[in-house]
Order: sequence, then C-alpha cells, then structure tokens
Amino acid sequence: MAAFVVAIDGVAGSGKSTTAKGVARRLNLFYLDTGAMYRAFTLKYLRHRKADERDIDVGLIEELLSTTAVDLCQEGDEVRVFLDREAVSLAIRTPEVSRFVSQISAIAEVREWMVARQREVAEGKRVVCEGRDIGTVVFPEAQVKIFMDADVKVRAARRLKEMGEKKMDTEMGEVIENLKFRDRYDSQRAHSPLKRAADAIVIDTTNITIDQEIDMVTKIVEKTLQDKRAL
Ligand code: DC
Repeated sequence: MAAFVVAIDGVAGSGKSTTAKGVARRLNLFYLDTGAMYRAFTLKYLRHRKADERDIDVGLIEELLSTTAVDLCQEGDEVRVFLDREAVSLAIRTPEVSRFVSQISAIAEVREWMVARQREVAEGKRVVCEGRDIGTVVFPEAQVKIFMDADVKVRAARRLKEMGEKKMDTEMGEVIENLKFRDRYDSQRAHSPLKRAADAIVIDTTNITIDQEIDMVTKIVEKTLQDKRAL
C-alpha cells in the first residue's frame, strides 16, 4: 500500500503533469505519471503491430503485456520512463502515440496490468499520482483528490508550446482534435472511464497560471498533512 496519495485526475492537457510535478518537488513526494505508462505500452504495441492492421489486435496486446516492463525512475526533478529497460521519455510524446493511446488504454487487460503496476510502483511511498482513474479506481482511498479541467483552446495552446519546446512539429488544429477525441474516448470507455470522484476538489485551470495551480494544490496537500498529524 502507498503511504500517502495525492490523486490528480482530469481531461487531457489540463495541467495535471505540471501541477503534479511541481507539487511533488515542493513537498518531496514521488511523482507517478500513469499516462506515461499507458503511452509506453502504446509505443510497444505500435512497434509490433502489423503495418496493414487497422483494428486493434487484442491477441497481440495480451502477448506483449506478458513480456513488458514499464519503470519510472526519478532523477532530480525529472521522471524518466523506461520500456523494457529502454529510455523512452521522448518517444512516448509523439503525435502517433497520442493518436493511439486512448484506444489501447480502453482495453480491460491493459488497464488491469497498469493498475497492478501502478500500485506496485507506489508501494510504501508518498506519491502524487496523475491520470484519469486515480481517485476512482487506482487509489480510491487517496488522502487528497483533485480533478482538473480547462477550456480546450487554452489546453491546446499549452500543449503546442510544450511540443515546440521539444522540437516536435504539430499544428493547432491537430492538437485540438486530438484532445477532444481523447477526452471523449477516455470518458466513454466501459472500463474505469475518466470521471470525477465524488470527493474530488475541482480546479478549473483556464484562467490561472501554472504557479497558481501548484500553489493551490500544495496548500490543500499541506493542510491534509497537518490535519493528519493532529489526529
Ligand atoms: O496523461 P496523458 O495525456 O499522458 O495520458 C495519455 C492517455 O493515457 C490518455 O488519453 C488516456 C490514458 N490514460 C488512462 O486511460 N488512464 C490513466 N490513468 C492515465 C492515462
């Protein structure tokens, strides 16, 4: 079991990663990026699928899962992602991976594998865990639950800036379409869809800065830690 969990869920590009990373740094918690884990497995699937296969090959997915290792390694401020011991932090952020990741992560076998691995990674740690189903499925007992939302155009502009910094070539229209597609797909899937936990605090990040986001969540977490100590 994890020692302490801050669960941050929300729509794609709402600022979950930046907030989770910032809060983890300030409070010295482990940053668990579950989206990166789904992306890593999606990368593996894309490398192995038949080029002419249009449908998702569930048989291949099951076969690949049985030989997959996904690891997150905290190095200073950054968390590096490893797929079968290969460093893939950059390779998992391409538009191609973004295009397929929602479909791959909707598959029950993938979710089951990932949830088990996420709990294993968090074992005994104090974590900030970010994703879509953290407060509802992965850590329903989390001490703090946050749900982040923001206007899609603002989210796309932020994502575009981030990709530009990583020298990835994409267009605004493509980013907006991808965010909308993923939000719809992630919210409508049968297994652990993107959903606000009843006890989550909602933060709309449309009109606030990253520093404000980090401040807000840090204060909530500090208060919870203080209350816990006072018990
Ligand atoms: O957070 P992200 O954008 O890197 O996540 C990529 C995709 O992974 C997202 O569109 C849906 C999926 N995902 C998920 O289904 N459950 C999670 N806990 C995290 C991500």
